[in-house]
Amino acid sequence: MRSSKGIMAASVAVKLVVEDEQVVLDNGLLQLTLTNPGGLIVGICYNGLDNLLELNNPELNGGFWDLNWSEAGSTGTRGKFDTIEGSEFQVIVENEEQIEVSFKRRWEPSMQGQHSPLSIDKRFIMLRGSSGFYSYGIYQHEEDMPAFNLNETRIAFMLRKQKFKYMAITNDRQRRVALPEDREPPRGKELAYPEAVLLVDPVEPEFKGEVDDKYQYSCENKDNKVHGFICFEPPVGFWQITPSNEFRTGGPFKQDLTSHVNPTTLAMFVSTHYGGEDLVMKFGEGEKWKKVFGPVFIYLNSCTEDKNDTVSLWYDAKEQMEKEVGEWPYSFPASEDFPHADERGSINGRLLAQDWYISEGNIAAKGAYVGLAPPGKDGSFQVEGKGYQFWTNADEEGFFCITNIRPGAYNIYAWIPGFIGDFRCDKDIVIAAGSKIDVGVLVYVPPRNGPTLWEIGIPDRSAAEFFVPDPNPMYINKLYINLPKDRFRQYGLWERYADLYPDEDLVYTVGISDYQKDWFYAQVTRKIGENAYKGTTWQIKFNVDRVGEGNHTLRIALASATFSILEVRINREEANPPEFSSGLIGSDNTIARHGVHGLYWLFNLEISSAQLVQGENTIYLTQARSASAVHGIMYDYIRLEGPPLDECSPSQIKG
Ligand SMILES: *[C@@H]1O[C@H](CO)[C@@H](O)[C@H](O)[C@H]1NC(C)=O
Ligand SMILES: *[C@@H]1O[C@H](CO)[C@@H](O)[C@H](O)[C@H]1NC(C)=O
Ligand SMILES: *[C@@H]1O[C@H](CO)[C@@H](O)[C@H](O)[C@H]1NC(C)=O
Repeated sequence: MRSSKGIMAASVAVKLVVEDEQVVLDNGLLQLTLTNPGGLIVGICYNGLDNLLELNNPELNGGFWDLNWSEAGSTGTRGKFDTIEGSEFQVIVENEEQIEVSFKRRWEPSMQGQHSPLSIDKRFIMLRGSSGFYSYGIYQHEEDMPAFNLNETRIAFMLRKQKFKYMAITNDRQRRVALPEDREPPRGKELAYPEAVLLVDPVEPEFKGEVDDKYQYSCENKDNKVHGFICFEPPVGFWQITPSNEFRTGGPFKQDLTSHVNPTTLAMFVSTHYGGEDLVMKFGEGEKWKKVFGPVFIYLNSCTEDKNDTVSLWYDAKEQMEKEVGEWPYSFPASEDFPHADERGSINGRLLAQDWYISEGNIAAKGAYVGLAPPGKDGSFQVEGKGYQFWTNADEEGFFCITNIRPGAYNIYAWIPGFIGDFRCDKDIVIAAGSKIDVGVLVYVPPRNGPTLWEIGIPDRSAAEFFVPDPNPMYINKLYINLPKDRFRQYGLWERYADLYPDEDLVYTVGISDYQKDWFYAQVTRKIGENAYKGTTWQIKFNVDRVGEGNHTLRIALASATFSILEVRINREEANPPEFSSGLIGSDNTIARHGVHGLYWLFNLEISSAQLVQGENTIYLTQARSASAVHGIMYDYIRLEGPPLDECSPSQIKG
């Protein structure tokens, strides 16, 4: 049976021992050792293991907060990593129930160029009887600080590699993992980029022939609440629990890293993963900003020696995650920058969609993603990171309620599975402590000019419903062989396009083709030589019975774009310029990161009757750039609308 050692030993007071070089927090269940005044985690002692953390790696060791940043004005380049070491140690709370300690790094002009211009206060909390510890960080950019870009920030844990060999991300996504040395040559062979490695001669032969890539274990923010590793001897689970998304960038659908080979467990707060350059947080000179990341919980659990029980430590960790979510916002963090429940507010309302080509009455926004994010433009939450975001899903009837919102000014953003486009309520919603705002009924009017003549895919911001090929047998991750929902996480699927379409690009015939089989999940480039690629042109063939008056409307929703140019031509394959060009868009890198969505784009194109012919017509979709094998776009959904129908025009209905 799983045992909750935490509860059994609840009577031991939390102790703090401060020494010159280190600080130790101990509640009888675990002992947490941090450097003084750096606040780097160098020891976690639990269940007979003197340290769960690896300290003998060639590069990254123990547990630490870090960030990746760059000077203002630099773009696209790799930023500088900065392990955040405090210079001032302070005890914030010390009693038998709770210890909270702070490790602060203040910025000084002499640090320019070496450290990111931020003041950072890292906090660690241990509670009596709690089998783990909490950490949060308070980041501040102040009036006297130069401009800079913040690309990434996180907490990273490097676990003992000989101990933690079993990783769990979800109920399905669990596996034994290879060793870090298996990734190094000659045991490992780098594939198209350094993150992806073919394990050619791993220490443990069971991993031979598999691809290892940390991005195969990514997860959407909304589902990224608990993940970690299990050690079998002694039985110990190490879990990173994130009970709220309020401090993460990019909203609920953004994806990020979880745990991966090394063994490494991450708590990601800010990153450009699956979003790209647009997600880099840019700060102007003297821009005042403050944000609290976390708290997150590091949970440790244990059980008897039975191997089956040990694997089920995952389920215990999930239960603990539910508990932490239930306790959010925590009552114990001492910083006044972390508002407790009574200092927050809530909103409720109902979202409907109005689309007279589907229904005369308004349609309940069933399952809509509804959120508060800082005031911005339609869809700007996707790239927002400076403020906080609060999201929920509407119920069957479109009703929603968002609680525990920090005081501040927000817009309401939403998108509804099944409908294209972004909803945003222009009015600022101002939340104060104790606010209970009923926003009433909100009506989203998605883009629509005429009746649907045909459509390809489902408007859900993802390419998952399209054809995802089998992986090349040379490049498999065994975990995903029997997980149909996750098959897109295999390495190298972009190369399968040319295997399926060796001579001619994809042609989709409306009424005959089936998008689940005949629409490749990504419009990728085609390899034409060593490091040489060319763009591809896909065709959609469709019939028009009668070309009358009025424009048709082509709507193209993209689920992802990476250094791509989408050109659309109607019936004239050689038209120059094309009828539509997106210009250079996207850097979400979703193809190489084994995803099915990055940032969402929607393009609308009016087609005049002169551009169409009676009978067969062809739309040419060209991805014109050809720099790399992993550049390209993913479609979410394509729709052709006929000319407006009089009976569906707004004046007609209202009259
Ligand atoms: C952001 O940092 C990551 C490393 O964490 C790096 O791979 C990426 O290129 C950086 N992106 C930008 C836009 O600087
Ligand atoms: C462990 O689980 C496996 C598969 O569920 C089962 O076949 C086996 O009997 C279990 N072993 C024990 C000791 O419970
Ligand atoms: C039809 O589309 C063209 C652009 O292709 C636009 O200039 C024109 O105003 C549209 N006509 C109507 C009636 O909407």
